[in-house]
Amino acid sequence: MITDTILIIGANGQLGSVLTKELQLIHGKSNIIATDVYLNSNFDGTFELLDATDIKAIQKIVTKYSINQIYHLAAILSAKGEEKPLWTWDMNMKMMLNVFEVARLSNVKKIFFPSSIAVFGDDAPLISTPQSAFLNPATVYGISKAAGENWAQYYFIKYGLDIRSIRYPGVIGYQSMPGGGTTDYAVDIYHSAVKGESYSCFLNAETKLPMIYMEDAIRATIELMQAPIENIKTRTSYNLGAMSFNPSEIFDEIKKLYLNFEIEYNPDFRQTIADKWPKSIDDSEAQKDWGWKPRFNLKSMTSLMLKKLEEKYNTIK
Ligand code: SER
Repeated sequence: MITDTILIIGANGQLGSVLTKELQLIHGKSNIIATDVYLNSNFDGTFELLDATDIKAIQKIVTKYSINQIYHLAAILSAKGEEKPLWTWDMNMKMMLNVFEVARLSNVKKIFFPSSIAVFGDDAPLISTPQSAFLNPATVYGISKAAGENWAQYYFIKYGLDIRSIRYPGVIGYQSMPGGGTTDYAVDIYHSAVKGESYSCFLNAETKLPMIYMEDAIRATIELMQAPIENIKTRTSYNLGAMSFNPSEIFDEIKKLYLNFEIEYNPDFRQTIADKWPKSIDDSEAQKDWGWKPRFNLKSMTSLMLKKLEEKYNTIK
């Protein structure tokens, strides 16, 4: 059996930091090479600094460790991306194409490339958005992910590179903080509640968006990557559903446990982004092809998030 030696690009990020630990458990610590553009002094395992816009630097690490799988998680997200559109496009496309090219020219057999609900725009049905809906993304991040999905399919068809992808909803976890996204409020709100602060929400009360608890997001990623190759029928990116709620619903759920918690709504430019995103997702292709099934809903996620953050902030009631 060939041992998988896995390179993770963006290992310090919201998803990367949690996924890296899970992959270390599955494949053994010595087979996981974590990288990012900044050092993580608490990291337990093999860590290298890597700027993925530098193709030679990626090549060097792939050769040094005989890498045969890559999880490319680094990207500029939806809200931050709107501050510098052309830079965001350059960054996201360059990093992604560098990874695909290095893989094609070396021994890398399998790649994970995350996409997002941001690939959809208001020409798609925004309720129960289907897998094959028309894509007219309104953010640079969404445009780069939609292009990335097509590049992934292109590399699979043309070069046989086994690139697999998920269109993540907003990811919510207690372990790490998101950075620069439109769904970030749904993580921030739990931190405010546990710290005893009131929360100022940058989306209005009624903005429903698809979300997923971190544990489900990680399990989906692993299940997709472990599925037999013949089961992977979608070579752009799979829709993935778990739960949907709006700020008022998550607030009500938190308030059941934090009776004095307060919220005010101060929508900013991120409201315009969220208004064009799906409210719920049809993930029947992921269910059919590799057996996807979420385990967490708003209620079970909320009780876990609050418990874990109470431990973190040492505010156990
Ligand atoms: N969570 C991401 C964002 O808000 C969506 O992929 O940008």
